[in-house]
Amino acid sequence: MKFQSSVSDYRTSSGDMLVVFAANDKEQYVLSGEGKAVDELLSGVLSELLSGERYDGAFDSTYLIHTHGKIGYKAVLVTGLGDVKKLTVGKVQKVCARIARRATSARAFSLHVALTSDLTSVIPAELLGQSVSEGILLGSYVFLKHKEEKVRIKHHDISECIIHIAGGKLDAFDKGLKRGEIVAGAVSFVRDLVNEPPSTTTPAYLGDRAKSLAKKDPSLSATVFDKKGITTLGMGALLGIARGSEEDPRFIHLSYKATGAKKTVVIVGKGITFDTGGLSLKPANGMETMKLDMAGAGAVLGVFSVLPLLKPHVNVVGLISATENMPSGSAIKPGDIVTAMNGKTIEVLNTDAEGRVVLADALSYACKNTKPDYIIDLATLTGACMVALGEEVSGMFTNDTQLGQNLKSAADNSGEAIWELPLVEEYEEELKSNVADIKNVGSTRYGGAINGALFLKEFVDDGISWAHLDIAGPSFSEKDTPLVPKGASGVGVRLLLEFLKSESVSHE
Ligand code: BES
Ligand code: MN
Ligand code: ZN
Repeated sequence: MKFQSSVSDYRTSSGDMLVVFAANDKEQYVLSGEGKAVDELLSGVLSELLSGERYDGAFDSTYLIHTHGKIGYKAVLVTGLGDVKKLTVGKVQKVCARIARRATSARAFSLHVALTSDLTSVIPAELLGQSVSEGILLGSYVFLKHKEEKVRIKHHDISECIIHIAGGKLDAFDKGLKRGEIVAGAVSFVRDLVNEPPSTTTPAYLGDRAKSLAKKDPSLSATVFDKKGITTLGMGALLGIARGSEEDPRFIHLSYKATGAKKTVVIVGKGITFDTGGLSLKPANGMETMKLDMAGAGAVLGVFSVLPLLKPHVNVVGLISATENMPSGSAIKPGDIVTAMNGKTIEVLNTDAEGRVVLADALSYACKNTKPDYIIDLATLTGACMVALGEEVSGMFTNDTQLGQNLKSAADNSGEAIWELPLVEEYEEELKSNVADIKNVGSTRYGGAINGALFLKEFVDDGISWAHLDIAGPSFSEKDTPLVPKGASGVGVRLLLEFLKSESVSHE
């Protein structure tokens, strides 16, 4: 899909579909200035139909009319913004994703959008441009790789999207549009990766993907440790979880060197390529979606796939602990003790709490072998976090208030939702082991997301700024939503790229 912004008059252009916006005020629709102008061109038919249908301009509502050749567009799509005072980046993305879906099902090739000042006056031009292209591209995402050709051919792709913007700030808007295209590309990369069957996306496969990313640009490099290398590093925790699997584990170290940057952000991803629970086996229905358990790793790879294009002035290290979690005769047993890279011993009482165990080694490695200003880990860590925050919000834990603030504003600007949960010191009691330094589960189900985070904290050296994002809920959508079709969401990418942008400072 090609994006283009235009200052030319939408009234005299032509195409398959024109989008105009409506707001909701006092339970009634209010057409935007552009909508009113189109209504006039159509001799009032548009408003007549809208009123007849009691259309109210609610957020995420649409109303489609065919113009029968009265204007240059075959169809006009009225799109509701709801209460314009409540608009956010996330809402604009959702509205644009909805537009993309309506345009796709109407089989429109050329999509024109007449932006309203309701949008341009609420959201800064660059961010708005980015939200528009991100929303439209993510709303158009489909995963058809394994469908028969008939289905793939039938799928409709919008070929061009022209955004008509009245006056001013065109450059900034354009810059945003371009950035949004890149970011949406990275999100789609992750969706493809996570949607792929788990017997394809093995630890070795993730390692290969990391290496091929690194080959593409001199600013990137990758080291992939195999089982032998992992053993040499002393990663007993990762090795322990990997023991039951036919597939060997990998530990992946990616690096992006920015020109003239002083800061280093280390992003760490949980890469459980399939989580059966191990000997603490999951029930069949709990396992159905467990190919998603490498979504954190996916986000790390997704970010690296576009760093050479976005060129933030901040160094980035990406670390991934990749393994399957399988039950077998050689699998780790509840009660076994493993030693993490930092020397701490872990009693693995529940092999289904495997993510924190493999991350223990990744965090130890980050503290020992990189010089992080910040460590941010992303993990589909706990069902408990899903219970707490649902499918759209990631849990955030941090030992650094400032880092937490920065992540929150990056979340607001990226359309991803995060909510801070506390690292309750009193609950550390829960993780005391009789026989080892720490055990991997608490004694009750209560506070499960917090216990997971407290466990991880034990592997972050004192004085290092760290944040943990529990992305279990948003990583995978169980139903079709405008922005995320059923399946992988690519969560974390938009947030991290926005965060890296905010940390980007040139010292050249
Ligand atoms: N990968 C799961 C968490 C998960 C569950 C992610 C559902 C996405 C959707 C994780 O490894 C896990 O199994 N966690 C256990 C921890 C428990 C044994 C302490 C859980 O949440 O039940
Ligand atoms: Mn598990
Ligand atoms: Zn898991």
